[in-house]
Amino acid sequence: MARCRVPVARWAQVCLLLLRVDAAGKHGNAEFQKVELPHHSFSAPLEFSNLLGDWMLSGSSIFLRERLLLHPHVNERQGFAWNKRPLQTNDFQLTATFVANGAKDVSQAPSDQSFAFWFVRQNISGDFNETRMIRAASWKQGLEEEGYMLSGSKALFEGIGAVFSTSDVAKKPNTAVSFVSNDNHQSLSYFVDVPTSNAKILDFRNKEVEFKFRVQPTLVQAFLTLDGQTHECFSVDRAGFPVKVGGFIGFTAWSGSAGDGSMISDAISVTKVEVINFDDEAIGEDVVGATAEETSAYSELMSSNARHFADQKSQTEHLSRVTKMLASHLKETKPAYDVMSFQVSGMMDALNKLDRDCRVLTKEMRILENEKISNRRQAKRPKNNLDELKSHVFGLRRILEKEGQVHLSKIDAVQKNLNEVKEQASKVGGSTMLGKLVDQTRLLEQSVLASTSQTTWMLLILLVVIVVLGVLMFNRMQYYEKKHFI
Ligand SMILES: *[C@@H]1O[C@H](CO)[C@@H](O)[C@H](O)[C@H]1NC(C)=O
Ligand SMILES: *[C@@H]1O[C@H](CO)[C@@H](O)[C@H](O)[C@H]1NC(C)=O
Repeated sequence: MARCRVPVARWAQVCLLLLRVDAAGKHGNAEFQKVELPHHSFSAPLEFSNLLGDWMLSGSSIFLRERLLLHPHVNERQGFAWNKRPLQTNDFQLTATFVANGAKDVSQAPSDQSFAFWFVRQNISGDFNETRMIRAASWKQGLEEEGYMLSGSKALFEGIGAVFSTSDVAKKPNTAVSFVSNDNHQSLSYFVDVPTSNAKILDFRNKEVEFKFRVQPTLVQAFLTLDGQTHECFSVDRAGFPVKVGGFIGFTAWSGSAGDGSMISDAISVTKVEVINFDDEAIGEDVVGATAEETSAYSELMSSNARHFADQKSQTEHLSRVTKMLASHLKETKPAYDVMSFQVSGMMDALNKLDRDCRVLTKEMRILENEKISNRRQAKRPKNNLDELKSHVFGLRRILEKEGQVHLSKIDAVQKNLNEVKEQASKVGGSTMLGKLVDQTRLLEQSVLASTSQTTWMLLILLVVIVVLGVLMFNRMQYYEKKHFI
């Protein structure tokens, strides 16, 4: 999709030219046109694959989906986001929405923390050498060696900026907005040149704030809108030192030192940036992908020569030039358009397939459901698979709960028994138990003894009876012998 940005940007320019012709035709001297510069602006949702072509990030800055995070709540971090293309205008307005989130009381934020919006003549993204920061003992030391300690940006520069700091000129905790400018002759240093004595004190922390930086050749102004009210931060007359065309815009930050460890840095996020060109004789930013010839053609069309048309003939001439440009634009964009339409038709195919698949799935589900319904007539069953599954899960849960309860009550019973035994054991002391045992043993002995003596008596009686019977038998035998042999 990045490919289609080129024709779109050019298309915007061509539209602008047409608008100019229209306006010029109506009012003679055209009123200015506000034109947003797409390569210097962004808003959520951010497409970082495109944005990283326009912006260079370093330090702890990162493009997220909904914002540019300059730095998180971490001490000694640099925020660095610089645009790679110069603004081809010195009459513009930068509107940035930002949030500086941190401790409620500004005295709990590091005193040397600050962030800034810049418009600088040097190409800072090309000047900053990240490799040196990585190779240095610490990122901070690298910044110091390279002269980047002015709110995370270059201290020696030609340009202007607005610095938001958490302390004022007296180094007291405060929220101040300072105007800074340099002519590339001396390095500015933090706490000497910034914050400035005439810095505007405005509580810009812990809320969404809209910052407007209006730059005109001889006047630089800044406004801050917070809590629904707009305040002027500064208004600087630059008649003696006019702002030049061709500066780079950038956002930088230094999250401040930890102090004794209790200072937690604010997190700085930029949620929206809009750069508007007010100079209707300048293109504002380079047209990406245009040849030198095309660029000069654009510039000529935009120049003041094309502003006033002496007669209808010159107006016609201008129009025919625009028409020619449009024709060549259409010819050039045809291949890109073809590619795009091919891609779109591919996407349509994929969508149709998805649609078909969805239908099939729906039908399948419906068939399954119907089957279940017919089954239900025979046996009492839930009406579809999902319900069945649900009831199974419920059943399982119920079983688990019930089993669990039974186990619990069993354990309770065992516990109770154990307790009873323990109680009885402690109630019936060991000695009495032994006494009982001895008594019972004695009883057993006695009964055994008694039964033994009874048996002895019986034996004696038997013996006597046998002896008596024996004597009687002997007498009888003797009687019979006498009778036979005598
Ligand atoms: C600025 O520097 C960046 C990064 O080195 C580079 O890509 C870009 O082309 C430079 N811009 C100009 C106008 O020289
Ligand atoms: C950045 O610094 C390193 C180390 O000093 C050097 O080798 C490299 O060439 C530099 N890169 C640029 C683009 O200047």
